[in-house]
Amino acid sequence: MARSAKKTRLRVGFIGAGDIAELQMTKFASRPDVDLVAFTDLNEQSLEKSQASYPDAAIYTDYKRMLKQETLDAVSVCTPNRFHAEPTIAALKAGCHVLCEKPMAMTLTEGRRMAKAAAQANRQLVVAFQYRLDPRTQYLRRAFEEGAFGDVLFGRVQAMRRRGIPNWGVFGQKALSGGGPIIDIGVHVLEMAHYTMGSPQPVSASADMFTYLGNQPSGVIASPMAGWDYKTYDVEDLAVGRIRFDNGAVLHIECAFAAHIGERSLMNFQLMGSRGGATWEPTVIHTDEAGHMVNKQPAWLADTSFKAVFNRKIDSFVEQILYKGPCAVPVEDALKVQSMLSALYDSAQRNGKEVKVRL
Ligand SMILES: NC(=O)c1ccc[n+]([C@@H]2O[C@H](COP(=O)([O-])OP(=O)(O)OC[C@H]3O[C@@H](n4cnc5c(N)ncnc54)[C@H](O)[C@@H]3O)[C@@H](O)[C@H]2O)c1
Repeated sequence: MARSAKKTRLRVGFIGAGDIAELQMTKFASRPDVDLVAFTDLNEQSLEKSQASYPDAAIYTDYKRMLKQETLDAVSVCTPNRFHAEPTIAALKAGCHVLCEKPMAMTLTEGRRMAKAAAQANRQLVVAFQYRLDPRTQYLRRAFEEGAFGDVLFGRVQAMRRRGIPNWGVFGQKALSGGGPIIDIGVHVLEMAHYTMGSPQPVSASADMFTYLGNQPSGVIASPMAGWDYKTYDVEDLAVGRIRFDNGAVLHIECAFAAHIGERSLMNFQLMGSRGGATWEPTVIHTDEAGHMVNKQPAWLADTSFKAVFNRKIDSFVEQILYKGPCAVPVEDALKVQSMLSALYDSAQRNGKEVKVRL
């Protein structure tokens, strides 16, 4: 029976042993206070690969069996979005803390059930949003707290690829992923912009979504990410949305797997407030000082590479669970993000009509 143990080692199990799990495993295994105990996956090749790297770990094809047979403190859920909610709830009920990959879930209803299960089990549920631990985000959030922007009035979020329709996994299938670029890549930037704005309460949202390339064979135009499964592709290629918050702020979101833009990929956000504004990359605060308009940049930032930021979330999770460190992503924040995602998809289904954000 899985249970929590009071000691300074963390016994970790994985549900889902694909690409992102592999990255997580490398970081978890590099810590002297973590034991990788067991992995579950439906795919034997994924399991064999994990076992080759971590021969002491047990392998399973059914996560319920793993939770029953192994003594685990924590479980990392790294399955496709469709399989975030049930394994997370089962692991929490088995007494484990859970790190669940982003997005939290496919729907707000699933997210709420996960949060309730964590509260009932008195276990931590952390959604693996690494970008709020990015030094650029930390700097801008601290500047927000110190009043650098005054009242944040407007935010603009962009997560766009010129030709980046995933040719692996199930990211093109709505039934397994919940949607396309908004829920897959947009969620990262939405989450960190929302955090930098002080995590305001969303009240309404509207969105329009378009599908025009992913549902066609990929070979027509030369592209570094050809070979997507156009026959099963039923998510958006491009989405534009608008979210209003209870403090009067407004946020625009632009996301694409395939947009005709100059850049190969674009991941950024801007904030505009009554006293100042900000750009995430390059990291600049735009404000007025000494009677002039000035742009301020940090003279030094810690490592902002994907790997460094990704690894920071694993450290943060282990330190939260083992040493009572702070929670990087409170579940209430993750639920707010999930409520925005659900409202954006809801609005798109209603031809862009503004809908209430439910929480
Ligand atoms: N934080 C990040 O930057 C980041 C980056 C990429 C992916 N992700 C997230 O990680 C998750 C997984 O993505 P991925 O790229 O690793 O996908 P993947 O397809 O490489 O891996 C998913 C694995 O889950 C397994 N699986 C599916 N259903 C299962 C089940 N019921 N029980 C056990 N295993 C099951 C699959 O066989 C596969 O091996 C997604 O939710 C994705 O959004 C996060």
